[in-house]
Amino acid sequence: SNTPEIKIEFHTSPVSDADRIKALETPGFGKVFTDHMVLAKWTSDKGWHDAKVTPRRPLELDPASAVLHYAQEIFEGMKAYKADDGRILLFRPEQNASRFNQSAERMAMPPVPEELFLKAVEELVRIDRNWIPSGDGSLYLRPFMFANEAFLGVRPAQEYIFCVIASPVGAYFKGGAKAVSLWVETEYTRAAAGGTGAAKCGGNYAASLVAQAQAAKKECDQVVFLDAAEHRWVEELGGMNVFFVMNDGTVVTPPLGGTILPGITRASVIVLAQEKGLKVEQRPYSFAEWQADAASGKLVEAFACGTAAVLAGIGLVRHAGGEFKVGSGETGKLTTELRNELVGLQKGVTNDQRGWTRRI
Ligand code: PLP
Ligand code: COI
Repeated sequence: SNTPEIKIEFHTSPVSDADRIKALETPGFGKVFTDHMVLAKWTSDKGWHDAKVTPRRPLELDPASAVLHYAQEIFEGMKAYKADDGRILLFRPEQNASRFNQSAERMAMPPVPEELFLKAVEELVRIDRNWIPSGDGSLYLRPFMFANEAFLGVRPAQEYIFCVIASPVGAYFKGGAKAVSLWVETEYTRAAAGGTGAAKCGGNYAASLVAQAQAAKKECDQVVFLDAAEHRWVEELGGMNVFFVMNDGTVVTPPLGGTILPGITRASVIVLAQEKGLKVEQRPYSFAEWQADAASGKLVEAFACGTAAVLAGIGLVRHAGGEFKVGSGETGKLTTELRNELVGLQKGVTNDQRGWTRRI
């Protein structure tokens, strides 16, 4: 398909330098936004057109816009990091571009040419580069696409908008490096075979909110979803993949089978662990096995991973029948090592020998 040029419409920031610098000190997650955004349109007759970097502003939608009714929407999550020497780095952005198009295919949406996706992200980071926090923070990038045809019939829309916004962020979890707690959900499930579990579509997150709210009520940071068929196998968390570390050094993570998101952090952690000489098993792991392994001491660490969370140790697991600790209840040694290795690469501290980082 066609890849349009991206027009640049720069505007001077409405935010003062002092206010921006202050906002970058404690950005939290997803609350602060930069000055610009990317917009592109797709119509069935013209394909992709009108691509531009433009001042960030509200979108005007027809009340019959298809996304508002049938949720034909997908998104990505990625980060730009500022290295200590000033370089700006993206981490495996072509993986996000590729997953975006896999999501698009599942949701009957047009693909966004990889070149347009990457260029859009890069141009936005470039124009809003003074919004990238230094130190532990990063610029979270949110490319997304939605159906924008004013039509109430149920079929794939004939008009779409691709948009990228950016948000300076700190740690996803308020506790910082402290191990997180999980609520094991046995009533609601996230995705069933043949469903949209492997797609990064808004609907998956809408469906997870009641379970995440339940987790919050149980004073847990995240919800763990079990499989929809048997309510037996661990799948993933509301917004992260999950790993288990055994006392013989084996690392276990649920397999990609169409019901969980194929995390780019997950894929990277598998490579990092294997390169350390660890055995990584992508296999079904049941909640019963998890409980038994935690009780026997076979399970020494568990961690959640994703773009927003990076790697977060799992300390406590609550469920309908009680609760248990993983290892000491603190973030484990391997979790910390893998996290440091990953962040080292992402921030350009460690030499990237795998071609994972892309300089802007
Ligand atoms: N699983 C879910 C449901 C997610 O929302 C995310 C976050 O993007 C992940 C896993 C981790 O994916 P990634 O490592 O590509 O960010
Ligand atoms: C991400 O990690 O990018 C996500 O989309 C997950 C969400 C919890 C913010």
